[in-house]
Amino acid sequence: MQDVLAMTYYWLKAGHVIFVIFWMAGLFMLPRLFVYHQESAPDSPDQALWVDRERKLLRIILNPSMIVVWLLGLALAVSTGAFTQGWLHAKLLLVLVLSGYHGYLAGYARKLARGERPLAGRTLRLLNEVPGVAAALIVVLVVVKPF
Ligand code: HEM
Repeated sequence: MQDVLAMTYYWLKAGHVIFVIFWMAGLFMLPRLFVYHQESAPDSPDQALWVDRERKLLRIILNPSMIVVWLLGLALAVSTGAFTQGWLHAKLLLVLVLSGYHGYLAGYARKLARGERPLAGRTLRLLNEVPGVAAALIVVLVVVKPF
């Protein structure tokens, strides 16, 4: 029984890390697509292609990955009893920031699809710092568990 529980923990963790990679890859990629999108001529066939690519990235990679990361992360927290530990509280706060960032990008994709282009290309490039910094802090919290 002990072996089964231990194996379940390792499989949950493997699945969790795999979908974290998919989610983060999508979060890094989407603002990049926005930059190329904004360089296309308004109302051109090229712009319609970018709208389609952004929608597919959100629907096929980003949204399902975020859901699976949350589900497996919460299952891991239950299986390890980590809910009382400080590092998990800090991690959850950062994951909420990442999830909010994900929602913001999904909203921005809808604005682009309507023909709006509210942010400059430089700002979109800078936005990529958000998932980078959050992921670095999350990995330190979960591996070092400083508190
Ligand atoms: C969505 C909410 C999340 C919850 C509830 C959660 C929870 C957990 C828990 C409980 C563990 C097991 C820790 C242990 O074995 O001691 C874990 C492992 C891990 N998590 Fe998450 N996590 C979440 C999201 C994320 C995100 C967004 C990232 C990265 C950006 C991430 C990266 C990792 C990594 C790299 C590990 C493996 C650490 C190791 O044991 O070597 N997690 N997570």
